[in-house]
Amino acid sequence: MKHLFRKGSDPKAPTFVLFHGTGGTENDLLPIADIVNSSASVLSVRGNVLENGMPRFFKRLAEGVFDEEDLIARTKELHEFLDQAAEDYEIERGHMIAVGYSNGANIAGSLMFHYEQVFKGAILLHPMVPRRHMQLPELNGLPVFIGAGRNDPICSPQETEELRQLLDGAGAEVEVHWESHGHQLTMSEIQGAADWYRSRF
Ligand code: MLT
Repeated sequence: MKHLFRKGSDPKAPTFVLFHGTGGTENDLLPIADIVNSSASVLSVRGNVLENGMPRFFKRLAEGVFDEEDLIARTKELHEFLDQAAEDYEIERGHMIAVGYSNGANIAGSLMFHYEQVFKGAILLHPMVPRRHMQLPELNGLPVFIGAGRNDPICSPQETEELRQLLDGAGAEVEVHWESHGHQLTMSEIQGAADWYRSRF
């Protein structure tokens, strides 16, 4: 998969795994990683599905309606990519923190829904529920930050609450930070994620 890796100056810091939103690239979330912890390593992946030329991490049938078969296959592909990248770049596999926005938050959520211990923590910015009616793995106190919008037209507050409950129910420790700027990322949301990170890692 197309990606970039940037080695951090602090060998004890986790590696941030970045997942951009629809139409984005592996460069988009680098400023967020820098705000959260500028000395951490970064592995940033580009989604390899193209929708009218816009990179995404999995196909969709319509806005907010996911192609479940493709989602499952792409989740597996990314899971294998992360294992391989950990070897190639000599990253501690158990010390990766996901940072995803929108479609990228959805694939990061899907990785956590399908695989055990895939991340040590996750910053999910405007995520949706990736799949329903499935058994989640045991998440064992996994710290998760969710940035959400009270007026997000793509991910409703009800869906944010549903995601919180599903992750909580599997044992994750979820913190939800609410904003009122629709589906947009805001600086105060990113500051909220940075504060959450500092209090947990
Ligand atoms: C998705 O397709 O993952 C969500 O609708 C978010 C988006 O990319 O618009």
